[in-house]
Amino acid sequence: MARLNILRYPDPRLHKIAAPVAEVNDNIRSLIADMAETMYAAPGVGLAATQVDVHKQVIVIDISDSRDRLLTLVNPEIVTAMGESDCEEGCLSVPGIYEKVARAEQIVVRALGLDGQSFTMDADGLLAVCIQHEMDHLKGRVFVEYLSRLKQNRIRAKMLKQQRQSA
Ligand code: NI
Repeated sequence: MARLNILRYPDPRLHKIAAPVAEVNDNIRSLIADMAETMYAAPGVGLAATQVDVHKQVIVIDISDSRDRLLTLVNPEIVTAMGESDCEEGCLSVPGIYEKVARAEQIVVRALGLDGQSFTMDADGLLAVCIQHEMDHLKGRVFVEYLSRLKQNRIRAKMLKQQRQSA
């Protein structure tokens, strides 16, 4: 396993669209293991392959306190979305920024798991928000892009300044 480099907003590679995975093979399982290690080390509750510059539809999530309930979603699709929630979100690609975004409150998701088998799951609360946030990454969308142009410009300037200082 290896820790991967996480792209930082406003890196244009965060806007690439991820392609579906044709087969959950050893290469994909190895990517998933590396993504999980990277997410746990960060630490974060979710990571999309887009954030490590791999443009395939793969997501890892763990919202448990014990950090031992890894959820892997390959080629995720939202089957049903209901209600509305307005949760404060953060992102490993936009460190230090927390903003509210409107999302569906409850979702039903279909995806392939680590074993390549298709499954359907219900999610609500933080898990539903997290899945929607990570699925956006696969479509090339970062959560701050839901905010006003003014806020986005401020965040962009702050991120670029941070990156210059750490370079
Ligand atoms: Ni994110």
